[in-house]
Amino acid sequence: MIISIQEAMKHGKGKVSLHGWCYRERGSNKLRFITLRDSSNIIQCVVEKEKVSEKIWKDAESIRIETSLELTGEIKKDERAPTGYEVAVTDLKIIGKCDNFPIQKDTSIEFLADNRHLWLRSRRMTAILKIRSTVFGAVHQYFRSHGFYEYQSPIFQPTQAEGGSEVFKVPYFGDFVFLAQTWQLQAEPAIFSLEKIYTIAPSFRAEKSKTSRHLTEYWHAEMEMAWSKFEDIQDHAEGLIKACVKAVLENNKDELKILERDVKKLEPTVKKAFPRTTYTDVLKELEKKAKIKIEWGKDLRTVEEDKISEWYDTPVIITRYPKIVKAFYMKEDPENPKVVLGFDIIAPEGYGEIVGASQREENISKIEDNLKKIGENPRDYDFYLDTRRYGSVPHGGFGMGTERVIAWICGLDSIKDAIAFPRTPDRYKP
Ligand code: 4AD
Ligand code: MG
Repeated sequence: MIISIQEAMKHGKGKVSLHGWCYRERGSNKLRFITLRDSSNIIQCVVEKEKVSEKIWKDAESIRIETSLELTGEIKKDERAPTGYEVAVTDLKIIGKCDNFPIQKDTSIEFLADNRHLWLRSRRMTAILKIRSTVFGAVHQYFRSHGFYEYQSPIFQPTQAEGGSEVFKVPYFGDFVFLAQTWQLQAEPAIFSLEKIYTIAPSFRAEKSKTSRHLTEYWHAEMEMAWSKFEDIQDHAEGLIKACVKAVLENNKDELKILERDVKKLEPTVKKAFPRTTYTDVLKELEKKAKIKIEWGKDLRTVEEDKISEWYDTPVIITRYPKIVKAFYMKEDPENPKVVLGFDIIAPEGYGEIVGASQREENISKIEDNLKKIGENPRDYDFYLDTRRYGSVPHGGFGMGTERVIAWICGLDSIKDAIAFPRTPDRYKP
């Protein structure tokens, strides 16, 4: 019976059968060292010419990086082997030949991006993809355990939602539609049915800016809930981020090690309450601590967000942004009509905005005014405004950029490594 490398090492002795790919190979005309790789780990395997048939020896000699194979042998502890165990091979079968795997010496960023389909096999990408899987699982787990239903909005949408300059317009049978920037406008109607809902789905942003934190297609974890107070939305966003980080710390120790991530930097997020501050206070702090003066009413830019993230070892919740910089659906603060009951969460270590959120405006004429100010015709949004016409309730929600969270948890230089096939303005292949 074939078992995984990880399971084999757990047994630690006796006869084992494994399958996988050649990760490394070297040797002489008497001895070949083949490091075998499967999804679980790597292990050093030795083939000794004297101890196997001629056929097996010939096959062993033909093995190159990424050849796939099955083997059987005796496993034992060996301090010198890369993962502490070694298999003395008694039988071996080549499954898929591989000569000249393209990724060997040239590992420039461009080359690896062109060969992304092959680079996914690297230990680095394997580690990141496992952590990504944990984060997705944690999102489902968090929401389901808090009484949220999973719900889906359409990807083809009749209107924009987060700003016209960043929306993808797609031909649609003589008409056109927009790719979803958020699930929100078709999610709000569903809270009248399910009350508490969530999704993880692709969102699309035609961001022309080439940065280390923007993708044109990203996976958006969003929630919407009826009867919410502004604080409830903040609590759930904090709870979700904590749940994601906790799950990775518990389940992906080995992967974090492969990525050389300093886990001490993640621990405060699980243990400590996130600081909550306001946009206006942040401007004061920026001036006081960093001598950065920003005119009240201007949005925070990357430089400011990065500065702010230096002050905290957990994500920070910034509430009550100026109304003019935020989306049309955000609720005006009843105590100060210049700001909205919206918030962003900024990740530590300069990973930027990981959550955007708000309590939703209930007043139809305010929403209509906001739409007109951004050049939209409120009549195109009648389906949305009906949520305020027929039994409206206080509600709110947030969206978390999963790749930004993954990039931060893994300590990546770029968001592009947080997803298998990143889509950016200058890359949509392979
Ligand atoms: O702040 P945003 O635009 O908020 C919304 O879309 C709301 N409708 C969410 C809601 O209330 N349901 O986007 C939410 C998050 C951002 O905080 C960021 O983490 C991520 O989505 N995000 C991106 N991630 C990767 N690439 C991009 N181009 C992103 N744009 C936003
Ligand atoms: Mg935002």
